[in-house]
This record gives sequence, structure tokens and C-alpha cells, in this order.
Amino acid sequence: MIALDEAAKTQNIRVLCVDDEAPMLEGYARLLRSLGYDCITTTDGYRAIEIVKSESPHIVLTDLKMPGIDGIALLESAKNIDPDLAVIVVTAYATIPSAVEAVRKGAFDYVPKPFSADQLEIVLQKASEHRRLLDENKRLRVQLRDTYAFGNIIGKSQPMQRVFETVCKIAPSDANVLICGESGTGKELIARSIHANGPRANQGFVPVDCASLPETLLESELFGHEKGAFTGAHTDRPGLFEFANHGTVFLDEISDLAPSIQAKLLRVLQEHRVRRLGGRREIAIDIRIISASNRDLEAAVAQKQFREDLFYRLNVISIKLPPLRDRSGDIELLANHFLRKFGKSVIRPPVRISTDVIEHLLRHSWPGNVRELQNVIERAVSLCESDAISVADLPERIRSFGAPLPTDPMRVSLREARRIWLEPLEKDYLKNLLERHGGNVSEAARAAEIDRQTIYRLLKKYGIKSFE
Ligand SMILES: Nc1ncnc2c1ncn2[C@@H]1O[C@H](COP(=O)(O)OP(=O)(O)OP(=O)(O)O)[C@@H](O)[C@H]1O
Ligand SMILES: [Mg+2]
Repeated sequence: MIALDEAAKTQNIRVLCVDDEAPMLEGYARLLRSLGYDCITTTDGYRAIEIVKSESPHIVLTDLKMPGIDGIALLESAKNIDPDLAVIVVTAYATIPSAVEAVRKGAFDYVPKPFSADQLEIVLQKASEHRRLLDENKRLRVQLRDTYAFGNIIGKSQPMQRVFETVCKIAPSDANVLICGESGTGKELIARSIHANGPRANQGFVPVDCASLPETLLESELFGHEKGAFTGAHTDRPGLFEFANHGTVFLDEISDLAPSIQAKLLRVLQEHRVRRLGGRREIAIDIRIISASNRDLEAAVAQKQFREDLFYRLNVISIKLPPLRDRSGDIELLANHFLRKFGKSVIRPPVRISTDVIEHLLRHSWPGNVRELQNVIERAVSLCESDAISVADLPERIRSFGAPLPTDPMRVSLREARRIWLEPLEKDYLKNLLERHGGNVSEAARAAEIDRQTIYRLLKKYGIKSFE
């Protein structure tokens, strides 16, 4: 039977049971209630559809063969009303082909008769978990759409929206993730948010900086050691993998990992076991690994500096964080976010950022990415003496960057207006277009209603690689 903490997971999950035989329904109701589910029953398929509309159950458990509307028809109508509904069909052995058809039509699973209470319990648990993940995913998407923010991660530019989408999709899974991006682009922030929105959120997130420790020290940090394994190992000590058991390990700067440690890490990933230095015992561990690199790890693999087999184990899902200069649409949003954040720690905080400051920020190339922008705003907030941050509050390297951009396209020459407003738009458009069509120039040309020659000319003009 179900354990106590399992019972909590079934709370508030509504299951609609449909069967033309009343005694069967009574049996379902008794079992489901004892497992902690809310249970609604009906012997009538049409009534069941009404209940799907009015009560929004999470799961429907239905017999396949019923007079009037049968299980398949009920499945189709119910999924039309609520595509996320998990429908489980119950079927006699003789009708298994119809059950398979039901699964093809979107049923979550089927249970062949006769079945035990345990069998039913397992299928219901799987369906509940499935619903929970779908609901969680929806919640994250709504939050994202409404705030341009994913938790405390800000971004409305297309590349960042795509990153958020990926995070939404993959956080609930348990797959390893590799995050690449220049320094300061937010790799650790994304890693933390994948962890926080995933199944291990209640367990630890353990960051390890692979670049900061010498090889031997890092090895014993990660894998632990037994007493006497090396000079100075006075006691047994578990490593970070053991410490992080059931949680997430964040391996930062993974490209700096020495070859001997790469080999050991690969074993951990393949066998889900660690052996402490100097130890014989293999200890089972269950961890999710999120790694990050500001070097192109694929290039490191090509140059034989990083093991290819390890790369594939780590890179089940990859996220590329674009540098800030490629998402200038986020600069103002981020600047205002940091203004609010740092404003909290000063007595009379500035409440806005003047337009010419924004222009300066937009012209800067941000080699230090979001971290650099964050530092610039933090500094400006503490220097600022009025209610608006002005150019004088910016560091010299940003302040002295040429004359500010004009703001009114009608007051400059057409050539200047093109350079400032049209060309960046055309360049972004083109990059996005090609990306959407996987680099296929013919398809891209068709979608943009221009000819291929124009695309080639623009690619050349903006120095964009054609992807082909
Ligand atoms: N999209 C964002 N929204 C809000 N804050 C951000 C965003 N991206 C980065 N930051 C902030 O910028 C700083 C740098 O981010 P983070 O440490 O995650 O970068 P990183 O890519 O891991 O950098 P490094 O490679 O140097 O370790 C952090 O303080 C983080 O909170
Ligand atoms: Mg980092």
C-alpha cells in the first residue's frame, strides 16, 4: 500500500471514474479514496462529458466497452475539452487492440482486466505525476509571458525568450544540461533556475568551480577520500557527489577539467556510483549534472582537449546564452531591474534612468555582459544624487563613448537613420529568419518574400555566415 508521504501527492487530484457497472464504480471509489484521491463516479458516458466540463478532473478512468458512448468516444470528447487530461482506459484482454488504439488517440495508458489494486495504484500515480508536470509547465509559461522574467532572470529579447522556453521544457526532466556562454551572461543563474523548477528542487544545488582548484584537490573534493589515501588525509571524507546525493551538482568551467578527472566523472555518469580516493567500496549516487563553460566545448572536443564520450553525457540538453551585445533589446529592461534591486539599499534611491544614459548603454559592447551592466548600475545608484541616473554617474569607458545616439529619425540624414535604425533591424531579421529555417536560404527567401540573391547580398553586407 501507499506510504504516508506518497498520500500527500494524491491530495487535490480529481479522478473521474466511468463504468456502466455500478459495483465496479463502488470498488474504484473505495480504493481511490483510500489512496487520497478525490473521486467522482458515473455510469453514463454522456454525463461523464458534462462532468469533464464542469468539474475539470485531472484524470479520467474509463471502461472501454460501454453502452451508448464508449470509452474511445469519451476519450476523444474529453481530450477536446481538456487536452491535458490523463485518460486511463480499462479493458478486457480480448479488446487490447482497441486499448492500443485508445493510446494512439491520446489515452495516457490502459489497464487490462483483471487487475490488482496495486496495478491500478501505479498507473494512477504515473498519471498524477504527468499532470503535475504539465500543470507546473503551464504555470511557468504563464509567469514568463506576463513578466518577461523567469524568476529573477530578466529578458524579453528573442534569444532569451527561447532560453526560457527551453528551461521550462527541460527543468521537469532529469536530463543533464550543458550551458555555454561568455562570462557574465547568466549561466549560473540559469543553472539554479533549472534546479529550482525541477524534481530535485527540495534537494541541494552544489556548485563546483572546476577551474579554481588544483587537479588533486579537486579530485578529492569531488570524489571524497578514505583515511590515509594520501598524506594529510587524516579521516574519511565524503566527496561533493555524495554530499549532493539526490540533488544537482553544478560543474562550472567544465572545460578546465583535467583528463584524469574527466575519466572518473564519466564513470560516475555511466554507473551512478563513486569510489572515494583510496577506497574500495562503490557508493551508489543519484545526481543531476548541470555544467557550464565559457569556452566552446565542442571545439575543445575537436581539439582533443575534452573527452567526446563525456561531452555527450553532459550535453544531453544544451543551452547557449547569447552575449549581451547580441540582445540589446534586454539592456534597458535589465538596467531598470538592477536599478530597483540596488535602489533598495540606499536611502534616497534614483527612480529612473535618463534617456541619454540608456543611449550610452545601448552603444557599449559589454564585454563583461550582464555582470558588467549590473556593476555599472550598482555604481551609478550609489553615486547618483538626484532622482534620475545621469551620464555623469556612468564609468568613464561608457561615458566617453562618442556622442550619444540621436533619438529622432526625422532629424538626421536618411543615411544616418538607416545606419542607426534600419540596419540593425535588417540584420536581426535576417539572422532570425535563417535560424528559423535551419539555414536553408531558399526556404528563408520564400518566407520573407525576397529572392535568394538578396539574401546572399545581405549576408555579405552584414558579415553573417550563411549556415549552409
Ligand atoms: N538575465 C538576467 N537577469 C537578471 N540578472 C542576471 C541575468 N543574467 C545575469 N544576471 C546577473 O549577472 C551576474 C552574472 O551572472 P552569472 O554568475 O550567472 O554569470 P555566468 O555566466 O555564470 O558568469 P561566469 O562565466 O563569469 O561565471 C549575476 O549576478 C546574475 O544574477
Ligand atoms: Mg558562473
